[in-house]
Amino acid sequence: MLKNWDKDGVLELVKRRISDYLFVVASNRQPYIHRFVKGKIESFKGPGGVITALDPVMRQIKGLWVCCGTGNADRVVVKKTGKVKVPHCCPSYEVKYLWLSKEENLGYYFGFANQSLWPLFHLAFVKPKFRQEDWGIYKDVNKKFAQSIAEEIGDKKAVVFVQDYHLSLVSKYLKQICPQVITLLFWHIPWCNYDIFKILPYRQEFLAGLLSYDLLGFHISYFAHNFLEAVRGELEAKVNLEQASVVYQRHRTLVRHYPISVDFVGIDELARNAKVEKLQRALEKEFALKNYKVIIGLDRIDYTKGIPERIRAVDLLLEKNPSWKGKMVFIQMGEMSRIHIPEYKMLNDRINSLVEEVNFRHSQNSWAPIIFLRRHLSFEEIVAFYRRADVCLVTSLHDGMNLVAKEFVSARCDGGGALVLSRFTGAARELKGAISCNPYSEDDIARALIKALTLEENEVRQNMQMLRQQVSRNNIWRWIAKIIGDIPLRNPTL
Ligand code: G6P
Repeated sequence: MLKNWDKDGVLELVKRRISDYLFVVASNRQPYIHRFVKGKIESFKGPGGVITALDPVMRQIKGLWVCCGTGNADRVVVKKTGKVKVPHCCPSYEVKYLWLSKEENLGYYFGFANQSLWPLFHLAFVKPKFRQEDWGIYKDVNKKFAQSIAEEIGDKKAVVFVQDYHLSLVSKYLKQICPQVITLLFWHIPWCNYDIFKILPYRQEFLAGLLSYDLLGFHISYFAHNFLEAVRGELEAKVNLEQASVVYQRHRTLVRHYPISVDFVGIDELARNAKVEKLQRALEKEFALKNYKVIIGLDRIDYTKGIPERIRAVDLLLEKNPSWKGKMVFIQMGEMSRIHIPEYKMLNDRINSLVEEVNFRHSQNSWAPIIFLRRHLSFEEIVAFYRRADVCLVTSLHDGMNLVAKEFVSARCDGGGALVLSRFTGAARELKGAISCNPYSEDDIARALIKALTLEENEVRQNMQMLRQQVSRNNIWRWIAKIIGDIPLRNPTL
């Protein structure tokens, strides 16, 4: 029987396995950004799946989170210690910021991480770009992360849990300074198949860097398998499929898959809160939603998310089924990131003009089909939207997991709401009560939408019940518990 994991179970496990280790998380993106708003400092939660998943975990485990500071008030809040306790409302863990220069940001973040690796691993037909200088700066920034972490660790025992494709080489540099540390990396995006991976010019050095970690985690077994194939093809390494491990230069790395998730109980409780109910009523009024079926989409503005495709699908739906005019509204929420990359700027412009075009074509009196909401939304507001939606639409062209789908399900404590989910997300392998769609086909998205909008009440409830069972079992505590349970605490050189 599978154990049901919760916060307390994880704390228990932490105590049992790693209580005498310092626990450090490292990521590019910060969990909380501090900004000046009208002369006062405000704290905002960072966007993206890494933060969604790890913030609740860190609130329990405590420890230290090392990341880049990007908010204009970040330097002010860290004061003399160089660290700040977060979240503001109930300080639970410490954040240490690293400051990157403009050149470092351009080469490491906008360059190698997001113009080389991001498009390489996501098959969304955007060509990766490679510049030798970016690769050099990426390595330097990884070294800088390692140094900053090492300052905190000294010769103490520590488990360092690194996040994502920005920091593939941190373990290699960190172990040069602190050989006693145990390092783990979770890869939050897909890992492409070996043929595509061969495009990466520095692939051997890149893979060797990853193999300096003691444990590597991927969302699904297919990504882990692709990684092992790449190792087999590129390095003189011993790949052991049975043990899911690789031995390279006398060091063993475990290679496992752990489908990431959300804090089901935490979101469910929040969704039942009177504050969220009040917000829901406010949204209902602000957007005059009373008489409409509501479809929502929530994404970072990114070309992997299939946002133009879903706008086109709404267009198609109304063109083929004009009786839906004046009866539904699609609310797309989205935060911008990576704006200095031309593809992101172009995408943003394209979405703006598409929304305008589709709204112009179908609007009647005061009704228009699409609301594009750009303002920053608190998590409570997002949960209020989840509660109000008849349909949540996820059309990623490729996505490691997609946590919006799992958040939506967790928020539906009322048992209502339908989920339309791209078949190219990691989540699609788990969430069987969703209506699957092919995001490359606008016809297929429109078909799935009509299906979702016209499901009988009892079918909606049955599907949602199934979805909620899946997410409540495979929750974020199970994810982290499995990882902590697998940490190879004794780390022999072979
Ligand atoms: C994805 C990546 C994360 C990243 C997030 C937001 O979830 O896997 O590593 O932090 O997107 O992207 P950004 O570039 O804005 O940090």
